Amino acid sequence: MTHYSIKPKLVVAPISFEVLTEFNLGSRVLILISKTVLDTFNFSSIFDELKKERTLYIYNHISPDAPFEDLDKVINDLTGKRIESIIAIGGGSVIDAAKALSIAFQGVSYKDVFYKRAEMPKNKIKVIAIPTTAGTGAELSFGAIIYDKENSIKGGLRGDIIQPNGVIIDANLHNACPSKLKAEVGFDCLTHAIETYISKKSNPLVKNQSIGCIRNIFSYLIPACKENNLYAMEKIALSSALMGINLAYSSTCLPHRIQYVIGPLTGTSHAQGLIALYKGWLSHLKDLSLIEFKRLADDLDLSIIGFLDKVQLLKESLDIDYSISDLGINENQIIDISNQVSGNLEADPSYTGIETIKKILFNSL
Ligand SMILES: [Fe+2]
Repeated sequence: MTHYSIKPKLVVAPISFEVLTEFNLGSRVLILISKTVLDTFNFSSIFDELKKERTLYIYNHISPDAPFEDLDKVINDLTGKRIESIIAIGGGSVIDAAKALSIAFQGVSYKDVFYKRAEMPKNKIKVIAIPTTAGTGAELSFGAIIYDKENSIKGGLRGDIIQPNGVIIDANLHNACPSKLKAEVGFDCLTHAIETYISKKSNPLVKNQSIGCIRNIFSYLIPACKENNLYAMEKIALSSALMGINLAYSSTCLPHRIQYVIGPLTGTSHAQGLIALYKGWLSHLKDLSLIEFKRLADDLDLSIIGFLDKVQLLKESLDIDYSISDLGINENQIIDISNQVSGNLEADPSYTGIETIKKILFNSL
């Protein structure tokens, strides 16, 4: 059975009072906005217009990985204020923080849901996601990745209720992102397309969306990064959003499982870790002549070698051709890292045991 729903409402337009109020915000609105975006763009006239009929609570303190303490600050301030909607303007961490906060005022602690001591609440506050980086897919995915800094545990709140209730794509916001970050996060989008296609959980609709996204990344990521081309940026932003849905109906594969270990270990970003691990994972898929990999290349009218060349060219053109050695990992750490990789490893059809992880890491040096 193939199951795939494209929802919720997604608006592609420059952010404005009119576009925001299409979403029926209610009278008490929490706005979570990244500090950089707030400093770069002038939203004061839009916020002033909103304030005429609403109370706004504006926060710009969410740090990378959406740590518990940043979420608790908002909860402590706003408990009892009966917030009706949350607008999240920022990268993946800001959007994930909004998604976590959306279930945090329902009488159940989000930390208990995080540690599986409590069920996900049945109700939540409406979330409108306005991404400013294109790649994480947080704007449409069914998970919120947050961070328990005290115990060094990064994990997810998961369930379809977590998906935002509306998305606004404004490519102007994306274009303000530094070009290196655009390139790296854009590669994360590519990994979502490839892995949700290859995964054992994939289905024909997921694969169809993946192919469209991969074509977009190959055609538009370089002009989006190097020329700040707005049309190209919009294509990447839409691909990122659609891959958020793919993540909900399929799954990622071993690179994402391994990145969750090497990220905290090396202090590098999610995207940087994935770029480095793709070096080893893609060559492992090629060595296996994995049928899913062959089909992916066929769907793109490419040979496996042709596909690998395209990925390599993309990395070189964008100056993001990292290896795990570049991230500070050496050969002696491979066994240790391999032992720490957890999660649903079997979803990756190339996985046969810990030796697979060691091989990918070794190939990625
Ligand atoms: Fe990712």
